[in-house]
Amino acid sequence: MAREKAKKAAISEEARPIGTGLQPGDVPFDRALRPTNFDDYIGQKQHKDNLRVFVQAARARGEALDHLLLCGPPGLGKTTLAQILAHEMGVQLHMTTGPVVEHKGALAGLLTKLGPNDILFIDEIHRLNAVVEESLYLGMDEFRIDVMTGEGAFASAIQIAIAPFTLVGATTRTGLLTAPLFSRFGHHIRLDFYTVDELASIVTRSARLLEIAISPEAALTIAERSRGTPRVANRLLRRVRDFAQVLGTGAIDVPTVTQSCRRLDIDASGFDVMDRRLLRIIIDDYGGGPVGVETLAAAIGEPRDTVEDVYEPYLLQQGYLGRTPRGRVATRKAYEHLGIAAPPRDGALELWPRESSVGESEN
Ligand code: ADE
Repeated sequence: MAREKAKKAAISEEARPIGTGLQPGDVPFDRALRPTNFDDYIGQKQHKDNLRVFVQAARARGEALDHLLLCGPPGLGKTTLAQILAHEMGVQLHMTTGPVVEHKGALAGLLTKLGPNDILFIDEIHRLNAVVEESLYLGMDEFRIDVMTGEGAFASAIQIAIAPFTLVGATTRTGLLTAPLFSRFGHHIRLDFYTVDELASIVTRSARLLEIAISPEAALTIAERSRGTPRVANRLLRRVRDFAQVLGTGAIDVPTVTQSCRRLDIDASGFDVMDRRLLRIIIDDYGGGPVGVETLAAAIGEPRDTVEDVYEPYLLQQGYLGRTPRGRVATRKAYEHLGIAAPPRDGALELWPRESSVGESEN
């Protein structure tokens, strides 16, 4: 059942770049800005400090790191952390994506290529098919794989040893993983949204690497409009740079950022057209909610997974959206943000889910 759920919740390749605001040209840009060591990595302090300890301990023992699961909305740095771990461990990083590993043979091909203590990063690990996932267990537990020899009546399975390795799995929601896979990871990390100050530091670092002149206030303004997400912050910096170059002096100040955002339809809270549409549908068409996520997804014309993985997490975390067992509700903050008079609290308790169930899942 979990498997079916995982399949249904798979994010389409097309949905992700749109939802995270990434455009094709942004991908190499994004990569170039990724820090390669813990010292350059901004934010996620508690996780970073723990990972430093695990790396130091594993290196001192000459062992592979324990298998690690990274979880969180797109753009928060799951791939970046895997790259840093490989760099700090002094091992090779091998990267793939769940749906790409189509059969056991493909997995065996990946696992037999690994050197001692290397890291295998599987993005969207919840999208591995059941057969591949099951054959991964033996690799994770015992560093062995099953190989078939012979054909027909003479076919038999033998086990061969592979190098000790670390599996770093990444997923947008841990709830999409099967229990046997989830329990095989020695450590689980849920990445949090970044603070505005952390994002401002990331923007400043990126601008320095790209040799863009930006004032501290402008970096802060970009940070405020980046939905807690470094990938969004770097993308916005890139767009603002375009406006500054063509319409201004090339240097980025606060008016350049606010004017660029106006042209991009990004408001002061960093919400784009889709965020506002999502909230408006709940308020205008469903009286503030509750409304089921499936209905909501159909209304905005996006897959359910994109709504759940890309749009909702930040709106929930910031308290614009609430989740109740009967569906999503717009909060008072959402009404205020959109400049709509909120209905009175009495008699409309479900509109104010703060006490009840933010974070509860809908049936
Ligand atoms: N670029 C993207 N994410 C980053 C982070 N967490 N720290 C520094 N630079 C980044």
